Amino acid sequence: MRRTLIAGNWKMNGSFAANHTLLTEIIAGLPADNAVETLVCAPAPYLAQCAEILGKSTVAWGAQDVSAHAKGAFTGEVSASMLADSGCKYVIVGHSERRAYHAESSELVAQKALKALSENIIPVVCVGETLEQRESGETSAIVAAQLQAVMDVLTAEQMGSIVVAYEPVWAIGTGKTATPQMAQDVHAFLRSQLAIKSAEAANAVRILYGGSMKPENAKELLAMEDIDGGLIGGAALKAADFLAIISAC
Ligand code: PGA
Repeated sequence: MRRTLIAGNWKMNGSFAANHTLLTEIIAGLPADNAVETLVCAPAPYLAQCAEILGKSTVAWGAQDVSAHAKGAFTGEVSASMLADSGCKYVIVGHSERRAYHAESSELVAQKALKALSENIIPVVCVGETLEQRESGETSAIVAAQLQAVMDVLTAEQMGSIVVAYEPVWAIGTGKTATPQMAQDVHAFLRSQLAIKSAEAANAVRILYGGSMKPENAKELLAMEDIDGGLIGGAALKAADFLAIISAC
């Protein structure tokens, strides 16, 4: 059984004061018997704050990016060992905003995943097609190539420990969600791609859906066989919405 993972991606939002309110409300609102693994991915300057507030809770924290380099003269970058020092359990790699605004290639994303794993941090590898690619029937080819770059550098065992997030670019922050069946089709396809590398990995890897997931659509999406959780942007900034998505699992 794959344990459901609900992950918040705060993107470049927050402040010490706002985070304090959000995190304390999340902790207070989690059901006592919460079976859902809960994660928030915060901007780097707030990871210590997450550690302080979430340290004694069941909520994990993670980062939104990591350097592909171990250390040294890479001004502005944050290494996997620094994230490990900050108590991060997860790190998002290859978010479409990084691919688009920072020209990150799938090969670079794969190196970042490898660096995260070397510090025992679980990479949440994002894949997804643009609207143009979907409309020209390229969805499978695009997500397969994005995933393949990671499969090329990870061992079968390492593959089994990652998380994949399918985030159609056209659904991110737009209010447009993939229908549960559209998402399920891509998730099942991604799992079949993972199976080429390793049947165990394909069975173990959690594939999250991301793109305008909110309380109103979470239940239907999360009910699909191959949707093992969510990567949530906008709705993760409001405790009530984030908690409602957790209860929808
Ligand atoms: P959204 O963002 O939920 O605001 O669409 C999801 C994401 O980009 O991870």
